[in-house]
Amino acid sequence: AGVFTLDPGFTSTASCESQITFIDGEEGVLLHRGYPIDQLAEQSGYLEVCYLLLNGELPTGSQFKNFAREITQHTLLHTQMDRFFDGFRRDSHPMAMLTGTVGAMSAFYPSSMDSADPEERRLASIRLIAKMPTLAARVYKYSIGQPFVNPRNDLSYAENFLRMCFSVPAEDYKISPTLAKAMDRFFILHADHEQNASTSTVRLAGSSGAHPYAAVAAGVACLWGPSHGGANEACLNMLHEIGSVDRIPEFIARAKDKEDPFRLMGFGHRVYKNYDPRAKVMQETAHEVLNELGIKDTPILKVAMELEKIALEDEYFVEKKLYPNVDFYSGIILDAMGFPTEMFTVLFALARTVGWVSQLNEMIDDPTQRIGRPRQIYTGAPLRDFKPVSERG
Ligand code: CMC
Repeated sequence: AGVFTLDPGFTSTASCESQITFIDGEEGVLLHRGYPIDQLAEQSGYLEVCYLLLNGELPTGSQFKNFAREITQHTLLHTQMDRFFDGFRRDSHPMAMLTGTVGAMSAFYPSSMDSADPEERRLASIRLIAKMPTLAARVYKYSIGQPFVNPRNDLSYAENFLRMCFSVPAEDYKISPTLAKAMDRFFILHADHEQNASTSTVRLAGSSGAHPYAAVAAGVACLWGPSHGGANEACLNMLHEIGSVDRIPEFIARAKDKEDPFRLMGFGHRVYKNYDPRAKVMQETAHEVLNELGIKDTPILKVAMELEKIALEDEYFVEKKLYPNVDFYSGIILDAMGFPTEMFTVLFALARTVGWVSQLNEMIDDPTQRIGRPRQIYTGAPLRDFKPVSERG
């Protein structure tokens, strides 16, 4: 038996070398391929960021045109995929449907299994990014009992997604440029975040040579939990539960109480011990969306604003460096846009797909790559002899 270092939750172990995303948690810095997240969110578009994450450089004009065209050409799902939905109850959690259907897609593209062929890998990346919005919109439509809406090639990535979610047979969704921009920004802000739990899951699943869609399905499953991607849903549910500003102190007290498992959702981060740089942009975007929709002073908003203020000043939160994270504001935006809370994590998964795929590709390209195989420190029974049941008393 070897001697291993115990590192529960991987707080001090780097699992890989990576050139994709840099985070300085103390300073609140997030860079993709060297570019600051706020510059990307404010000046770029999601597909441009996808290209950057996948290829390492921003595209030239013609590279971008080709990339965007190729994504657009792959947005349709195999019609057989629609059959999978019929097997789900209408009240299934959207993340349950997404986990299942992303995994099911691996059956339609068996050649993607050939990771030695760069063209197959490129196509798998394009297909996953292109089909995820179509799949996510179907998950939503199925859950509300409405017919599926197919993608339209003349729309942008974010516009197309909003239309597939919100158009009904009698009325095509009227796309607001402000909302489409906010959706695109939400996608950019969730595109990658180095070796978080779901990305590490995708790398670990992919390290065995599993099908890339199956590895991404593993990432979707991991993202679901409230400590990770599920926090945006949990945060909005919490704001509803608090309900009014006068109840905030009670919840703050619960968050501080070590006997109470309750945590303030949307606060704290494993890596950021400063303001989450994504949260800043998300906060500005939330204001733009609310202005556009003429929403102000709702009970949820009042609770959110007051909670943010109190938490930023409260000794417990200041001392533990628990700042609002990206999920604190994203829920407010998605709620205002009309998405039900159960869909929030699905939208996170859609946006994170490019990160998962880029990290998976980087791992496969790494000549030192081996199957991921953590070890353990065994604390169980020592060697002992088996006794037949008749002798066990
Ligand atoms: N409310 C109250 N106390 C908290 C919170 C919170 N939201 N977050 C951390 N703490 C306390 C925790 O009790 C612990 O206290 P002590 O040192 O006295 O035991 C201390 O702060 C450190 O917390 P931890 O659990 O050891 O930190 P972690 O790095 O393991 O957890 C976290 C990080 C994000 C899971 C945690 O902060 C949390 O549960 N936050 C709420 C859920 C959430 O918003 N998650 C979204 C993360 S951002 C999106 C993403 O990347 O997925």
